[in-house]
Amino acid sequence: MSNNTLTITDNRTGRQYEIPVENDTIRAMDLRQIKVADDDFGLMTYDPAFMNTASCKSTITYIDGDLGVLEYRGYPIEQLAERSSYLEVAYLLLHGELPNEQQLADWKRHITYHTFINENIKKVLDGFHYNAHPMGMFEAMVAALSTFYPEAKNIEDEACRRKQIHRLIAKVPTIAAFAYRHRVGVQYAYPDNDLSYEGNFLNMMFKTTELKYEPDPVLERALSVLFILHADHEQNCSTNAMRSIGSAHTDPYSALAGASAALYGPLHGGANEAVLRMLNEIGSIDHVPEYVKRVKAGEFRLMGFGHRVYKNYDPRARIIKQIAYEVFEVTGKDPLLDLALELERIALEDEYFVKRKLYPNVDFYSGIIYRAMRFPVDMFPVLFAIPRTSGWLAQWVELLNDADQKIARPRQIYLGHRTRDYVPMEKRGEGKDVGADPEQVAQDSRGQASA
Ligand code: CMC
Repeated sequence: MSNNTLTITDNRTGRQYEIPVENDTIRAMDLRQIKVADDDFGLMTYDPAFMNTASCKSTITYIDGDLGVLEYRGYPIEQLAERSSYLEVAYLLLHGELPNEQQLADWKRHITYHTFINENIKKVLDGFHYNAHPMGMFEAMVAALSTFYPEAKNIEDEACRRKQIHRLIAKVPTIAAFAYRHRVGVQYAYPDNDLSYEGNFLNMMFKTTELKYEPDPVLERALSVLFILHADHEQNCSTNAMRSIGSAHTDPYSALAGASAALYGPLHGGANEAVLRMLNEIGSIDHVPEYVKRVKAGEFRLMGFGHRVYKNYDPRARIIKQIAYEVFEVTGKDPLLDLALELERIALEDEYFVKRKLYPNVDFYSGIIYRAMRFPVDMFPVLFAIPRTSGWLAQWVELLNDADQKIARPRQIYLGHRTRDYVPMEKRGEGKDVGADPEQVAQDSRGQASA
């Protein structure tokens, strides 16, 4: 008997099965042969939220959550943050290797070439209300791109795929900055292709009347580091959404819009926005102990703390904490930093957090830096989505090239009623009203009246 197997005894039947173990994993489909009767469906696994299920094999990002290790294509995040640039990292994620000089120059040229968006996309943006959340606009605009590039549905064509990748990485900062400008009601600033990827983004965000915007090199570099840290994080909620939608052979714009929607949630990429709101709510250092007490009582979570995979300090949070000081040299110190440091200190000494291995994650300090750089709070999830675009696309390409993959389609354990006869209305009795909520109806009609 091979050592790389798992022997399972089914106590219902007394039968034994030998299941191959590969990469410390068994294939769930190998359990299907385990049956009580020949016409049984076979054994399944139940794993809500994918707590212990690998949905793919990947060579992109490695995480050791216990040791706090993060690597892209084998390169430690610390080295990439110190020595690389975001576009170089995006190339690495998508191609598997660091580019040589010529490859990097070509890559930058391709991306720079696609930074402009079709003028008609601006009309889509103009349709949004002045106070629309920029992440909602971002999602919608990315989805709208698919209507401008219908050829993108040729996902089997490698050259076509590559072009959409260039377009997406190039256009997401433009969409993000335009969404911001729509929100604040100022004229759009067009891309300046003489600037770096990050410098151009700052230009599109903050240029006013100057003829040429000159980004501060410290802020430009800080943004590059933040983009590197956010570029990929293996099979998280939004990447899983990207892969799941992509598995239906949807075009990459529509898939990426779906991934952005997943990122928007406060438990995921929306957490940086939630952290800032939380720090503002706490207000001062004296209120920290009381706030922590309420977290422990289960009233709410400490945003920016905890992670499904990291049970140690998130290595990204450590790097962000360092660059905060460099940014504050330029922008002046944000008073919320002291509050965040005190919150971290108290939480890390507290048994509740120690026992549950809850440490600051990437979102705990990023918002403070973004705020110091003058990004409004509701832009934070968008700032996460811009660099994550390269990670999502790398994962999407890997999915399409993986012969093991098919359309994603989980099973369920059905526990509801089985076949029963339709009940006529007069025989149904008093049930719970699952119709319209009167409060909501009132609210909607108020909204309509003022629209
Ligand atoms: N504050 C207080 N308690 C927490 C927190 C928190 N932030 N996170 C987890 N816990 C507790 C939780 O109540 C549970 O306690 P108990 O065992 O007594 O029920 C225990 O820790 C385990 O929590 P869990 O919900 O099973 O953990 P999870 O792996 O499902 O959730 C998480 C991971 C990130 C959703 C969660 O830690 C959380 O909600 N954090 C706050 C939101 C946040 O900062 N999200 C950003 C994640 S990093 C950026 C990204 O990759 O998106």
